[in-house]
Amino acid sequence: MALVEVRDLVKIYQSDEGIFGKAKREVRAVNGVSLDVNAGETLGLVGESGCGKTTLGRMILRLIEPTSGQIRFNNQDVLNASSGTLRRLRRDMQIIFQDPFASLNPRMRIEQIITEPLVIHGRNGRSGKSRLHDEAVKMIHAVGLDEEALRRYPHEFSGGQRQRIGIARALMLRPKFVVCDEPVSALDVSVGAQIVNLLKQLQREFGLTYLFISHSMPVVRYLSDRIAVMRQGEIVELGTSEEITSNPKHEYTKTLLAATPEAKLQ
Ligand SMILES: Nc1ncnc2c1ncn2[C@@H]1O[C@H](COP(=O)(O)OP(=O)(O)OP(=O)(O)O)[C@@H](O)[C@H]1O
Ligand SMILES: [Mg+2]
Repeated sequence: MALVEVRDLVKIYQSDEGIFGKAKREVRAVNGVSLDVNAGETLGLVGESGCGKTTLGRMILRLIEPTSGQIRFNNQDVLNASSGTLRRLRRDMQIIFQDPFASLNPRMRIEQIITEPLVIHGRNGRSGKSRLHDEAVKMIHAVGLDEEALRRYPHEFSGGQRQRIGIARALMLRPKFVVCDEPVSALDVSVGAQIVNLLKQLQREFGLTYLFISHSMPVVRYLSDRIAVMRQGEIVELGTSEEITSNPKHEYTKTLLAATPEAKLQ
């Protein structure tokens, strides 16, 4: 069953990059994309830098406003949702960023960072602080860190640990759907592999559906049930990981596969 349905999605950016700062330049970042993300699956989204992956992922969460098209989440119209519905939808849809450090407030302790979504969404309940603390402890353990981490600040952690904190924050509201936007691209290969395995484990534990964005075919292949190959704003091929990697139809998919021969994750 499709949890996310994307139809004819388009994003055109207007930029003022003319020689004299007057001419408008149009960038068709996403050019008529249609795809489904099925409940419980990982859909990998792969393609080279600038092809529109981030724009597509963020439009689904409505962090970027599409130029045209339709998005349905759990059978609800995302683009025409009332503010109340949108607020509810936002709890169910979260994002994990490439650079966790840039997305973690340096002046906040980890406990405050990861419980903030609960406070914002008024999910801290009647028991207030102690319930929030319990939730923080549970989640910090789920992402493989010690309870003691809650009292510390982002700069005290390594890149991999910070990504675990970013994941903890994304999962605090118990979302159904998570867009993972290059979550391991800034990490060493071995650290990245640990994070990928953590994401797999959390998917089972919390019943998550992922859109996993990456420019790396080996990473996407390892994690995804199906893979969408994106090029210059369009999906050129979509199939099971097996089909895409062992029997690619599109020339561009073949090029991507050839660029990363025998790289392994584990
Ligand atoms: N705010 C913006 N204004 C104008 N152009 C933009 C904006 N954001 C992105 N673009 C352009 O849209 C295109 C798609 O960008 P996007 O960031 O979605 O690609 P990407 O596939 O995520 O790339 P990367 O792999 O480098 O993260 C690029 O040509 C980019 O320069
Ligand atoms: Mg991107």
